[in-house]
Amino acid sequence: MRRLANRVLIVPNYVYDARRFMSSSSAARSADDRERLAAHITMDYHRIEKGMALPAPRAGFGQDVIERLLVHIPQYEAAYGADATTEVARNALTEYQAFNRANGVVNTKLDAFLSGRPATNGEGGTVELTREQLFPFSDDQALSFVRSRRSVRQFTGETIPNEVIEEAVRLAQRAPSVCNRQAARVYVANQRDRMDQALKFQNGNRGFGDRLGAVFVITADMRAFTTLGERNQAWVDGGIFAMSLAMSLHSLKLGACMLNWSVPARHDKRARAALGIDDNQAIITMLGAGYPVEDVRIAESPRRQLDSVLHWL
Ligand SMILES: Cc1cc2nc3c(=O)[nH]c(=O)nc-3n(C[C@H](O)[C@H](O)[C@H](O)COP(=O)(O)O)c2cc1C
Repeated sequence: MRRLANRVLIVPNYVYDARRFMSSSSAARSADDRERLAAHITMDYHRIEKGMALPAPRAGFGQDVIERLLVHIPQYEAAYGADATTEVARNALTEYQAFNRANGVVNTKLDAFLSGRPATNGEGGTVELTREQLFPFSDDQALSFVRSRRSVRQFTGETIPNEVIEEAVRLAQRAPSVCNRQAARVYVANQRDRMDQALKFQNGNRGFGDRLGAVFVITADMRAFTTLGERNQAWVDGGIFAMSLAMSLHSLKLGACMLNWSVPARHDKRARAALGIDDNQAIITMLGAGYPVEDVRIAESPRRQLDSVLHWL
């Protein structure tokens, strides 16, 4: 019976996702709001950064990207003012200009654009790291850190303070994302009534939800996406961010357990209305965290044999 109903419901459920993707992303509409336009600028300045991070960048590369940035940055600054997005973009362009000049390529349009408002020399562009700086940890520390992450379901009930939550999310922001567009967002509660309000929409926290010290809802802002090909990108970027948050919490010696958001459209709709999560956001997963009890019993969750996971091409 349920399978039959699901056959009928599957298309409307996909339509629910598709509609929100179409109205949020700029795949089928112009980049007519701050987030959508910021996504285009970020994507393009990052193409410049990426190009300069190659082993042998070609002088004058990315002319089409530069043309677009010279339209989008002024458009953005006129509508929303200069901010971190445009500053980083200008800094990346300044490094690009210096690189090209050093290689005998001059772009007068770019020169005129940058002379209007000089870059701040803050973030944006490239940095050089030694191998030591790239891997600043001992082998055994790193291996034991990665191997020791487990899902924890036994907590003291102590609240995770706001500063610790902020630190965890800041660390989680090291997660990679498509063209550095950083679509992931985090909605968090650490007050009991707020946590309960979120947890009642989630079916996998029974027996331990009431002892959590914070509840995270990880979403992805679909305004960061620009093409049809990115229709599932929210779940990739959001999932990567969620994992990064789990590892960050682990690094702060907090226990964490992902809490699935495997829900049909009508449930998703109800939850986002109750929690005040905008339609532009795809809810990816919840995550519960807290201070583990002294001796924690965890599910072993044995892993598959390597040869059923790893396939050599
Ligand atoms: C997206 C996702 C959703 C999950 N949802 C739940 C959940 O609702 N409740 C729960 O107790 N565990 C949940 N888990 C935890 C898994 O059961 C756990 O990660 C898996 O068994 C591996 O164990 P480990 O995390 O201890 O290595 C979820 C994990 C993921 C990745």
